[in-house]
Amino acid sequence: MVTWSPSSWREKPIKHVPDYPNLDHLKEVEKKIKSYPPLVFAGEARNLKNILAEASDGKAFLLQGGDCAESFLEHGPDTIMDTFKLFLQMSAVLTYAASVPVIKVGRIAGQFAKPRSSDTEVIDNKELMSYRGDIINGIEFNENSRTPDPERLLKSYRQSAATLNLIRSLSQGGYANLEHVHNWTLEFLNNSPVSEKYKDLANQISQTLGFMRACGITPQSSHALRTTDLYTSHEALLLGYEEVMARVDSTTGDWYATSAHMLWIGDRTRNPIEAHTEFCRGIKNPIGIKCGPSMTEDDLLKLLDILNPENEKGRIVLIARFGFDNVEKHLPRLIRCVKNHGHHVLWSCDPMHGNTVKASSGFKTRPFENIMMEVRNYMKVHKNEGTYPGGIHVEMTGNNVTECTGGAMSISDADLSSRYNTHCDPRLNANQALELAFLVAEEIRLAKNNI
Ligand code: PEP
Ligand code: CO
Repeated sequence: MVTWSPSSWREKPIKHVPDYPNLDHLKEVEKKIKSYPPLVFAGEARNLKNILAEASDGKAFLLQGGDCAESFLEHGPDTIMDTFKLFLQMSAVLTYAASVPVIKVGRIAGQFAKPRSSDTEVIDNKELMSYRGDIINGIEFNENSRTPDPERLLKSYRQSAATLNLIRSLSQGGYANLEHVHNWTLEFLNNSPVSEKYKDLANQISQTLGFMRACGITPQSSHALRTTDLYTSHEALLLGYEEVMARVDSTTGDWYATSAHMLWIGDRTRNPIEAHTEFCRGIKNPIGIKCGPSMTEDDLLKLLDILNPENEKGRIVLIARFGFDNVEKHLPRLIRCVKNHGHHVLWSCDPMHGNTVKASSGFKTRPFENIMMEVRNYMKVHKNEGTYPGGIHVEMTGNNVTECTGGAMSISDADLSSRYNTHCDPRLNANQALELAFLVAEEIRLAKNNI
């Protein structure tokens, strides 16, 4: 195969690229970012790959989640803390109820660029460029805000660094100590049915910790009980940014993306001969590939050969996103194709992106029962195929939003307008995300008896 470099993607066809009016300005900003420190360290990406390899053997479970698109507007300590708390709660549920180690990977600290179904948007006969994420342009519908602005790359880099800094402090500084399992509850969850269920589980965890303490195992003596790891990930879409954040790891001499621990290729840009695949083949981080209904067996095999020629475990996460009524049609053929060719992959389920509908109120939403149904169908297919349903990938927030209909609090179409804050796709709120975690925990418990 021809030699790879961080810029070899520029020789390939590419989709979903913004049209910058001033390319010199863009070059200048990219040059500046190239001189900035990496956001993550290659050794951390290797650690993530090693535990993803464990998961592909059925010994751990991947929980990947966060905003569809992070925004400059929602950036603040509360948003980060609340997402972090939600991760801790969901993984407490999964770890305790399914007895499986949980690998936490946020769509956070870099998830800014968005592919769009249409290049332009028309409102009241005025046509402007579509919003492509805060790293590219602004969401406000006016000419100035919708024009791609390179300065936004710098702002995204700085926001990612600040977010990551808080995540690292919360992970390592004592907040994630399991003895605080009761404190992670988000305030607005109080009195919801799922919060009662969580309280019961937290009580059981406290009791277990009491037993362990009596045996001499305490958070003071055990690093694992008092800290956690939350890895970062985003879609590798804006390749100019990824190019300058790719660095050579001094320990191994290999290239790594240092914008996040894990990157994924979206469903719209995963063409084997195009630019996004080209960029990802040269970096050693774990790579996700979104698999929608149009993914052919042939393309999947090509992608696996290009992206993982050495068939390394932990390198590839296949993120199935078919829609609840399409999983049984498409997932079995892809699972069989991967299995028949002996490829090592970790399967994960994104029950969000195939279930987006337009509500009668005009909002883009996702009915919670369809999200739950996609997860159930995904689990069922893996059971039939004898494979491990290794993870889930969800769009969620610790804020009390009303973006997806349904769930225990029965959000209706009419409720959507009350707290519809997303900059892109509708997210699960904490209630819905926790409810999903309980379902998944039960399903993995059953699945573990199956493999
Ligand atoms: C996303 O994850 O926000 C996304 C755009 O997903 P997909 O590529 O699966 O459509
Ligand atoms: Co999305």
